[in-house]
Amino acid sequence: MTDAASSKPDDAPQRRVFIKSYGCQMNAYDATRMADALATEGYAETSEMADADLVILNTCHIREKAAEKVYSELGRIRELKNEREEAGLGDLKVAVAGCVAQAEGEEIRRRAPVVDLVVGPQAYHRLPELLKRRGAVDTEFPAEDKFDHLPQPLRAKTQARGPSAFLTVQEGCDKFCTFCVVPYTRGAEVSRPAAKILGEARTLAAAGVREVMLLGQNVNAYHGEGPDGGVWPLARLMRAVAGIKGIERIRYATSHPRDMSDDLIALHRDLPQAMPYLHLPVQAGSDRVLKAMNRKHTAEDYLRIIDRVRAARPDIALTSDFIVGFPGETDADFEATMRLVREVRFAAAFSFKYSERPGTPAADRKNQVPEPVKTARLHALQALILDQQTAFNTATVGREVEVLFEKKGRHPGQIGGKSPYLQPVHVEGPASLIGHIARVKITGVSSNSLAGSLQEVESRTRDRLPDSSAA
Ligand code: SAH
Ligand code: SF4
Ligand code: F3S
Repeated sequence: MTDAASSKPDDAPQRRVFIKSYGCQMNAYDATRMADALATEGYAETSEMADADLVILNTCHIREKAAEKVYSELGRIRELKNEREEAGLGDLKVAVAGCVAQAEGEEIRRRAPVVDLVVGPQAYHRLPELLKRRGAVDTEFPAEDKFDHLPQPLRAKTQARGPSAFLTVQEGCDKFCTFCVVPYTRGAEVSRPAAKILGEARTLAAAGVREVMLLGQNVNAYHGEGPDGGVWPLARLMRAVAGIKGIERIRYATSHPRDMSDDLIALHRDLPQAMPYLHLPVQAGSDRVLKAMNRKHTAEDYLRIIDRVRAARPDIALTSDFIVGFPGETDADFEATMRLVREVRFAAAFSFKYSERPGTPAADRKNQVPEPVKTARLHALQALILDQQTAFNTATVGREVEVLFEKKGRHPGQIGGKSPYLQPVHVEGPASLIGHIARVKITGVSSNSLAGSLQEVESRTRDRLPDSSAA
């Protein structure tokens, strides 16, 4: 695209952007905001890389494998770009965004010259500007708030994305766990002002969103400026979001055990919109390992938090992240992790082999655990977690749960959604139910989802729909 073309957008053919997002939900949210920002510049989204004029890889740096994926993808993109040029189809622009962009900056363009521009997670509001400059690298943590410079989520795009939406409320991390790159790639902890978040939530609700997932690297450390001038913790923010017409469900992730306050726990008992689901990573069950990880809590601290959460909401689905093979982890340490898992009984969990990340304190330790040991521990942990997940899902068979329907199912006549416990549920039902909550009797479990039969549409949803003319 030439500058002449960009100054005459009405005459220019529609440009297309393909965005591929890796890593966490916050990256997925950023991808939607980038797409919205580019839409105002005349870019339509495409799900086919081969149709795109602009490809954005929104990358993740959390483990070595995640970071390496970017370079193999860039190899494929280089071939695509050459083919396009040979076929006379014009230029393909390539941008790398996200946490690898932040961590490696200029180095990406040295390793992969196919890349036109590199933009970090705090600078992507500048994308339209950067696109006009070939070879731009912007990994600043700018003083301005990127959210002030991004358009509100676009109504048509929000509708297309379905009734469950992400909403970032807090970014960055000051905790510095010794294995983790996030404090370096995302910077210091910053909470968005509550009024901005509520405004965005209202926009989402008016476009048909029924469930918001409030996101932050340490979401329960949220302490944003309230509209009343005071500092609002997450529980206060959630109560305000729950007051928005149309918002039926609120979730939040990811929480840190140290910030699991009493008022937040109480919401799981008192606020009907607070879903009975909590992702609370513990990482390991051995106090020695937790200390070496700089988690600043013990296994016992974690178990007591779980007791308090379950006292507030006995049926809550609990999930966690685990790292196996952290430097110095012995068989006894790993056994402590297995004991903790047996004691908690999780609904699901993610587990990873420790991956040495450049620049983090744990990467320099001499006592790295051999790869085959990590693999064996990962298999043992995952087998235990799978048993617990199956037990949790099986326990819902025969029960009636509310399902928010999100999309058509794989088979004709089928629709799919999520239970309050975040379990995928499929039923035979009309597509008109998509975007609504209905009661479903769970009749069976397959490996990863539940099957059920429709009972009745929840009238509460219909009564609380916002006036769509208000949008
Ligand atoms: N803020 C969240 C999670 C951030 S990253 C928290 O505090 O828990 C998501 C998960 O990736 C982490 O919970 C951890 O389990 C995993 N992870 C982070 N760094 C890792 C590393 N170097 N090797 C393996 N797994 C890692
Ligand atoms: Fe990483 Fe720890 Fe911060 Fe989570 S709390 S983002 S694991 S440093
Ligand atoms: Fe990955 Fe960055 Fe998220 S490193 S997990 S994309 S914060």
